[in-house]
Amino acid sequence: MNATQVDLSVKVGKLELDYPTFMGSGCYGSGEEFAPFVDLARIGAVVLKSVTRLPRLGNPTPRLVHTPAGMLNAIGLQNPGIEWYLEHDVKKFAERPCAVVGSVAGFSVDDYAYTCERLAARDEIAAIELNISCPNVAHEGETFACDPNLTANVVRAARATTDKTLIVKLSPNVTDIAGIARVAESAGADALAVINTVRGMAIDVETWKPRLGNVTGGLSGPAIRPIAVLAVYEVARAVKIPIVGQGGIETTSDALEFFLAGASAISIGTGNFTDPRIPVRIADELAAYLAARNVASLRQIIGKANVGFANPYQYEGDEG
Ligand SMILES: Cc1cc2nc3c(=O)[nH]c(=O)nc-3n(C[C@H](O)[C@H](O)[C@H](O)COP(=O)(O)O)c2cc1C
Repeated sequence: MNATQVDLSVKVGKLELDYPTFMGSGCYGSGEEFAPFVDLARIGAVVLKSVTRLPRLGNPTPRLVHTPAGMLNAIGLQNPGIEWYLEHDVKKFAERPCAVVGSVAGFSVDDYAYTCERLAARDEIAAIELNISCPNVAHEGETFACDPNLTANVVRAARATTDKTLIVKLSPNVTDIAGIARVAESAGADALAVINTVRGMAIDVETWKPRLGNVTGGLSGPAIRPIAVLAVYEVARAVKIPIVGQGGIETTSDALEFFLAGASAISIGTGNFTDPRIPVRIADELAAYLAARNVASLRQIIGKANVGFANPYQYEGDEG
């Protein structure tokens, strides 16, 4: 078997993609910015920067801090708000040769439902990712993704607004991510994105002040990869819906860890900042890796490292 015969296609909810690579929200613009460097027809999907009901200026600067194996960010969901976005941005997405997934954030259940409904109604948007790592202002600022009831309420409300594929993005900043995953699945999620950034902080020892304008931020990049692989492994055992694994993926070997842990697709975020060719290189190398082992389809290796693993969705139609 040669690499061109290997099937890398994946199904995530109703999304059928030739390539198993998503570009992480907030790390790839809308794809347009990367088009001079990357053939967008050779990636699966771009997840857009999260959009909210009202415009947001974002956090005070500095918003990014370099760390030994990744970075801390506290952008603060800077975006022009859904109305401006629909009027000015969304039309362009029809030209993309890959799927375009809208990402919705909010500060109340109503916010999420409203923004989700407005965005999902557009033909240019293939699916919706729900970024539930936001504080609920009506609930003492508790993060939606960190509480089972808040997760259930927000996913149910978003689900009611659209039949399009709904991907719920989970936070690693919990003690039982599998429990939250089960709640999201029961509330109507078609797929789960695992994981968002890990909370962190850095302090300037000259000024004795936090280095981020927001004080705390989210850690991404290779530093969080083992945390993310474990989260995918645990979530894959808990749910029957597909998982988009993410956190520090830079190489084909990194990507394989996620597939073997139980992810049906992968997402690349921070890695794109250092090398925009990573997604295409991973697709090429995955095909070569599988061909060398006589494996005809990427789907055959999903969850293989997950002992006692039985996720019917992920084995659907495949032997091996
Ligand atoms: C600068 C930056 C901005 C981000 N913005 C968003 C966002 O708007 N919405 C979201 O759901 N995730 C956001 N993320 C999280 C990423 O999409 C991704 O889930 C996370 O960084 C882990 O993957 P990575 O290590 O490959 O970056 C952001 C990450 C970074 C580094």
